[in-house]
Amino acid sequence: MRISVIGLGYLGATHAVAMATLGHEVIGIEPDSSRLEPLKNGIVPFYEPGLQDALKKVLAEGTLTFQGEHDEKSAESALHFICVGTPQQAGQETADTSYVFVAAKQLAAVLKPESLVVGKSTVPVGTASALIESIAGVSGFEPKLCWNPEFLREGTALEDSLSPDRIVIGSNNPEINKNLRDCYQSILDTGTPLLELDLATAELVKVSANAFLATKISFINAMAEISEAAGADAVKLAEAIGMDSRIGKSFLRTGIGFGGGCLPKDIRGFIARADELGVSSSLRFLTEVDNINLRRRQRVIDLAQTELGDPNNKKVAVLGISFKPDSDDLRDSPALDISLRLMKLGANVVVHDPVSLEALANRETGLILEAEILEATKDADMVILGTEWKEYKNLDPNTLSPKTKTVIDGRNVLDVGLWQGAGFKVIALGRSIKNG
Ligand code: UGA
Repeated sequence: MRISVIGLGYLGATHAVAMATLGHEVIGIEPDSSRLEPLKNGIVPFYEPGLQDALKKVLAEGTLTFQGEHDEKSAESALHFICVGTPQQAGQETADTSYVFVAAKQLAAVLKPESLVVGKSTVPVGTASALIESIAGVSGFEPKLCWNPEFLREGTALEDSLSPDRIVIGSNNPEINKNLRDCYQSILDTGTPLLELDLATAELVKVSANAFLATKISFINAMAEISEAAGADAVKLAEAIGMDSRIGKSFLRTGIGFGGGCLPKDIRGFIARADELGVSSSLRFLTEVDNINLRRRQRVIDLAQTELGDPNNKKVAVLGISFKPDSDDLRDSPALDISLRLMKLGANVVVHDPVSLEALANRETGLILEAEILEATKDADMVILGTEWKEYKNLDPNTLSPKTKTVIDGRNVLDVGLWQGAGFKVIALGRSIKNG
C-alpha cells in the first residue's frame, strides 16, 4: 500500500520507518530541510535507539523515500498520515494546532477523494471535525478522515509503533477505516486489540491517557512530599502499593517528575480545552498535577541551597540532562530546568549526559558542558543525578573526586549503601535517608 507520512519529527519519522518496515511503500514529506536532508542520507536527526539502523534498512530496500512537498506520486497514496507537532502556544496553555491545519490544507490541494486522511498528532478534542471542514474548503469535496492516535514513547519508539498495546481508530463511519485496518493488518494479526470509535473519543483517548500517566506520577510525587514530612520512604511505598494489580507498579517512580514534549503540554492543553467546553471543573485536578510536578524541581533547588549555603561560585555537577534516558530530547526537561535555576542562583553548573550535550550546545544556555563524568564531577561541591541513564546507575562512586561528597539522587536509582560506602552523603527525593 502506498502511504504518505506528513511531518517527520519524532512521531512522523518513527511512523514512516515503522510503516516501511511493515512493507508498505512510504513517502515521508517534510518541508524543513534540517530534518529532511539527514533523513534522506539515513541519519535520524535525534537520538532514538534502533531507529537509525531500521531507517538505513528500509532506505536500502527502497520502501521509504523522502521529499519536501507533495507531488503527483505522493498524492496517489491510499493513506496520508498527518504527524506534525502540536506544541504549547507561546505564553498560553493551549495546544498550537496551526501546523496540523497548514499540513491539512497543503494536502487538500492535491488530495484525491478516494484517499484517506489519517490524523496521528495529539490534538484537542474537536480538531478532527474542524479539519474535515477545512480540507473540504480547499479540495471541494468532503474528505475521508480518521483519527488514529499514537502512543509511542521516546526511547522505545519503534518497538511501541510495531507492537502497540492497542490500535485506536476514530471516524464518522467505520467503513472508511478499511484501508487503515489493512495497513495495520500484520500488527492486528499478532493479537493487538483494535478499537474503532467516533472521532471525538479517539482524540480524547490520547490526551486522557497522557493525563492519567501524568496524574500517576504526580500522585507518587505527592506521596514523596508527605513521606519527606513524615519520615517515610516513598520508594518503598510505591513498591508496596504497586503490588496491588489494580494500581500497578508502572509510572510510580518518584523523583524530579515528568517533562518532555508531551505530558506537560498535553495536560495544560487539556485543561484549556475543558475550559473552552465549559467543563473546567472536571480537569481542575490536573492543575494540581502540574503544580506537584513543578514543586519537585523546586525541592531539589531547596535541598541544594540547604547543603551548599549560597550557591554563588559553587560547582554543581548535574548527571543527565535529557527529560528521560535513551533520548536527547530537552523539551521541558526537569534536569535542565533545575540546572538553569541553579545557574541563575550563581552556581557553576557542569552538565554531563551520554547523548544530549550536542542538543544542549545548540541552545547556548551558559551551562558548562563536559563529556567525561570524572571531569564533570571533579572538585564539585555537589553532584545531582538528573536523568537515570544506565551509565549513572552503574557508576562506581569510588572513582569520583568531588570536593564535597554530597549527591542528590533526583531519580531514586542510586545504590544508597554503595554511595554512602564511598563516603557520600546521599539525599534522595521522598526518602529520609540516614547518613552517618
Ligand atoms: C509519553 C507517553 O508515555 C506516550 O504513551 C505518548 O505516546 C507520548 O508521551 C506522546 O504523547 O507522544 P514520553 O513523553 O516519550 O511518552 O515519555 P514517558 O515515558 O511517558 O515519560 C515522561 C516523563 O515522565 C519523563 O520525564 C519521565 O522521566 C517521567 N516519569 C515517568 C517519571 O517521573 N516517573 C515515572 O514513573 C515514569
